Amino acid sequence: MNEKFSKFLKQNLPSVSSFHPHYNDALSCMLLAGGKHFRASLLLGVVDALSAELTDDAMRVALAVELMHTYSLIHDDLPAMDDSALRRGEPTIHKRYDEVTAILAGDALNTHAFYEISRSNFSAEIRIQCVEILSQNAGVSGMVLGQAIDCFFENKKLELDELKFLHIHKTAKLIAASLKIGALIAGCDSQKCDKIYELGLKLGLAFQIHDDLLDATATSDEAGKPTKNDESKNSFTNLLGIDGARSERDVLIKDIQNECKGLNSGVLQVINELINKHLKG
Ligand code: IPE
Ligand code: IPE
Ligand code: MG
Ligand code: MG
Ligand code: MG
Repeated sequence: MNEKFSKFLKQNLPSVSSFHPHYNDALSCMLLAGGKHFRASLLLGVVDALSAELTDDAMRVALAVELMHTYSLIHDDLPAMDDSALRRGEPTIHKRYDEVTAILAGDALNTHAFYEISRSNFSAEIRIQCVEILSQNAGVSGMVLGQAIDCFFENKKLELDELKFLHIHKTAKLIAASLKIGALIAGCDSQKCDKIYELGLKLGLAFQIHDDLLDATATSDEAGKPTKNDESKNSFTNLLGIDGARSERDVLIKDIQNECKGLNSGVLQVINELINKHLKG
């Protein structure tokens, strides 16, 4: 699945003819650098488990989610935010080119996500619901709010419930949205979509706690991005220590696996495989 999606992504990179010397490269370099495709894999995994005949068409919507996610990383790395020089093992766009290029590449990928949904091969009703889910979870009341809180409260200590709110917004909502969009495309009713969304919030929180752990414990080579970078951040490792963060993550994973039992066995398998691949250690 991951390979098929990577191929689709490479064949569908945003690109436009103009006399700008590096505009297309700036749009595509972070997409080509890879990443885990965790969100796309969740979306496609759910569709494949529930309505395999729709998986190929869902690729374009999974691409939209990865475009949105990649824009968030490009902006997250800017000097005004986390000031990171490395992403997905490659120099960040503001290092490769300049800040203007990175800001605009992010803007372009954000809007291009909605373009891809608009031209996907689903009914108008499904497409508009995809737009609604993606915009609500990435925008004003989702990832952007999380990033705003993350940045505003640098060097100001948050309480545990505030830190959870921050992580749920900056990371978990887009992950939950990926699962929900998969369920929607696969034809689930709104109750099932909401259930999988709630599960996705827990999965996304565990994912960000694991990311905080990577910052504290992995090398920059292993992570493909600078580590030991969260010292002035509100992270789970700063608040609870490494062992405390690990146990918080693992309690969430147990919880998810218990709740998953009521789900279709294919969906359960997808979620378990992704947890084992990306959330252990
Ligand atoms: C990094 O996301 C930012 C977080 C929300 C933790 P990923 O860990 O999914 O990054 P890529 O897509 O694999 O590079
Ligand atoms: C970023 O969180 C989450 C986004 C919404 C981009 P981090 O700042 O922890 O992500 P990394 O560690 O740089 O990938
Ligand atoms: Mg950040
Ligand atoms: Mg960062
Ligand atoms: Mg991080």
